[in-house]
Amino acid sequence: MCGIIGYIGKKNSIPRLINGLKTLEYRGYDSAGIAYVKDNKIKIIKEAGKIANLEKLLEDKDSSNIGIGHTRWATHGGATSNNAHPHKQGHITLVHNGIIENYQELKDMLIDNGYKFNSDTDTEVACAYIDYLYRENKDIVESLDKCNSIFKGSYAFGIIVDDDYDSLYAVRKNSPLIIGIGDNENYIASDVPAILDYTNKYTLLNNYDIAKITKDKVTVYNNLKEVSKDILTYNIDKSVRDINGYDHYMLKEINEQSIILNNLIKNYDSKDKILKNIKDYTKYNKIFIVACGSAYHAGVVSKYMIEKYADIEVNVEIASEFRYKKLFIDNNTLVIAISQSGETADTLASVRIAKELGAHTLGIINVEESSIAREVDDVIYTKAGIEVAVATTKGYTTQVFILSMLALSLAIRKNINIDKDIFNKIRLVPNLINSLLDRKYNYLTKILKKKNDIFFLGRNIDYASVLEASLKLKEITYIHSEAYAAGELKHGTISLIEDDTPVISLVTNKDIAEKTISNIKETIARGAYSIIIATKDIDIPKDSYNDLIRIDRTVDLLQPILNIIPLQLIAYNVAKSKGCDIDKPRNLAKSVTVE
Ligand code: AGP
Repeated sequence: MCGIIGYIGKKNSIPRLINGLKTLEYRGYDSAGIAYVKDNKIKIIKEAGKIANLEKLLEDKDSSNIGIGHTRWATHGGATSNNAHPHKQGHITLVHNGIIENYQELKDMLIDNGYKFNSDTDTEVACAYIDYLYRENKDIVESLDKCNSIFKGSYAFGIIVDDDYDSLYAVRKNSPLIIGIGDNENYIASDVPAILDYTNKYTLLNNYDIAKITKDKVTVYNNLKEVSKDILTYNIDKSVRDINGYDHYMLKEINEQSIILNNLIKNYDSKDKILKNIKDYTKYNKIFIVACGSAYHAGVVSKYMIEKYADIEVNVEIASEFRYKKLFIDNNTLVIAISQSGETADTLASVRIAKELGAHTLGIINVEESSIAREVDDVIYTKAGIEVAVATTKGYTTQVFILSMLALSLAIRKNINIDKDIFNKIRLVPNLINSLLDRKYNYLTKILKKKNDIFFLGRNIDYASVLEASLKLKEITYIHSEAYAAGELKHGTISLIEDDTPVISLVTNKDIAEKTISNIKETIARGAYSIIIATKDIDIPKDSYNDLIRIDRTVDLLQPILNIIPLQLIAYNVAKSKGCDIDKPRNLAKSVTVE
């Protein structure tokens, strides 16, 4: 998703803008640009492609005390320099994260009023509309307040107004934007890490807040009334952004999983700790889980856990579907929103719908103080630390862990029998993860990297796990893959199995292993190259695989965490062997803040 940075102070804004944009690269983008004041007028430099392309256009001697910058993830209009931000119309120069859904009707009206457009973007229309209002009232705060009732969709704007080069202006609705508080300088940014090199003090903007930001003062208005804002401190050490010698952030984050889970487990490795850290949700007679992507997969995995341990039905919904369907939700329903970034637009919208219907909402979130974290009734942080790679790994496994602890908390409160040795088994999991981390799967990598189609099979909770395995592979290797319920493949898709089509199967559930193996043999009968990942305690017939990867048996609650490690590493090593842009895969963004 788009990234926004802005600076006003006594120092040169240009290097700070570029540095901030580089920190925001992880959000995904296809063009970048900056605007700053030079010789008392706005100068805009923007270019398609990576930030390095933008840097080639910069004038070394230029210096300016005020500027805004932007990395664009194209929504309306292709990834061209013309469509890149910042945009300027009349008095207004602007960068935008979000989508203005009613931009076409506004554009038609503006064209009738003499405006001409240089780009295909909804953003330039918003810029022109703000200018249109500003021309009438010469009051930017009043103009932006009017926009809050006119613009439909989502937006975070950073704005410079021609008549006031001593101020930045900012306004947001549903897209993230924070204000960084420095010493005789202030910032705007899509997230705090973008400005951590300069300050860890920040303040949050709520929806419809309008901020006027000078180098030494921040004034925030809501409905034209000044509102006071707390200044918060971002406590995550910026060193977590260091790649620590790894080739990619994704590999670093895969390897961090054992220590991060070890730290998490310390807060949940007894009944007392679980009951202290997880509220009582037993009064709800229905549970919905709503999320996107890997967070959705964590939800599907946890469905099996919560239903097994807490004896309550769980509905797992893709957020972009949830928000448009008939919902049987009331105040006896618990809606759990899972989101690493806490900014995913569809998940945020689903939380709002759930609350309107009376549900109690619980967020399983990684980024503290994120939009979803601030809107749910309760939040449990996954404490995975900053996750830089677009393809989530530690974000996913910590989600599965917290959801497993939720399942356990429900069982404990319902006096449902649990394994008396469960906490000792839970404490062993980080070491079991460690034993998997140094594997490179070179032999498999050589085979898989040449393939165009790869299939993943699993049954029951293993099917839930291979959903995530398939996404990991697709996201970073660009190889098409599909995850299938093992028993379902023969109902059509098996027609795609040809000689040497790789079929990667997860077999960790003893009770149904034989069923899955017979499904695997059906694919081998049609020429498949079978790779099985199975726990050591399950007998796997030699004629059911070409390659067998063994993993340890652990407590069923956390087995999905162990299961995914080899699959994360296989995806990583295949992508690396293909020379893919692993941390910033094409077309993808770290947080999808648009519908
Ligand atoms: C996962 O690797 C992807 N980056 C993507 O599917 C992600 O899980 C999804 O966009 C949800 O993001 P969230 O957890 O921040 O809400």
